[in-house]
Amino acid sequence: MLSQRDPEEGIKTVNQERKKHTVARAALDFIEEGMVIGVGTGTTVDIFIEELKNSKSRIEGAVASSINTHEKLKERGIPILELNATGELELYVDGADEATKHLHLLKGGGGALTREKIIAQASKKFVCVIDDSKLVDRLGKFPLPIEVIPMARSAVAGEIVKIGGTPEWRS
Ligand code: A5P
Repeated sequence: MLSQRDPEEGIKTVNQERKKHTVARAALDFIEEGMVIGVGTGTTVDIFIEELKNSKSRIEGAVASSINTHEKLKERGIPILELNATGELELYVDGADEATKHLHLLKGGGGALTREKIIAQASKKFVCVIDDSKLVDRLGKFPLPIEVIPMARSAVAGEIVKIGGTPEWRS
């Protein structure tokens, strides 16, 4: 939430929003006519979905990495396909929570880690849409998301503690 007493913060947010639009628009250049694309999760990807209407090439459909993305694609009238039916995808577009200049990414902050990884793995090309606020020298300032199946919750938390971590449950 913006504080009225902190105009600097407001300017930063507006600038970041502009950068998100810039990177989302840049990702459109990777789309070719008739492609089925994988679509990640997050606010930058939401803007990418909005921007799809400005793409010179039309996509045939998309594989969604989360319920939120599924809904957003549906609102825009984009056919949603299942990875089981599409097989390998030409392109996957997603954001990241952190990135290094060596292209190492920390992902999953949007709560869609497993689906994202599966679609990314099933895609020939991954275009990552991030602004410079995500750039870090070393990954790890952002809490590392780990997705677990419910029955493994305590067991996995115990293993994380053993290696010095402090797990926090996020439902
Ligand atoms: C989703 O689980 C993450 O991997 C996202 O890519 C990440 O949270 C980026 O989101 P923003 O575009 O909102 O920063």
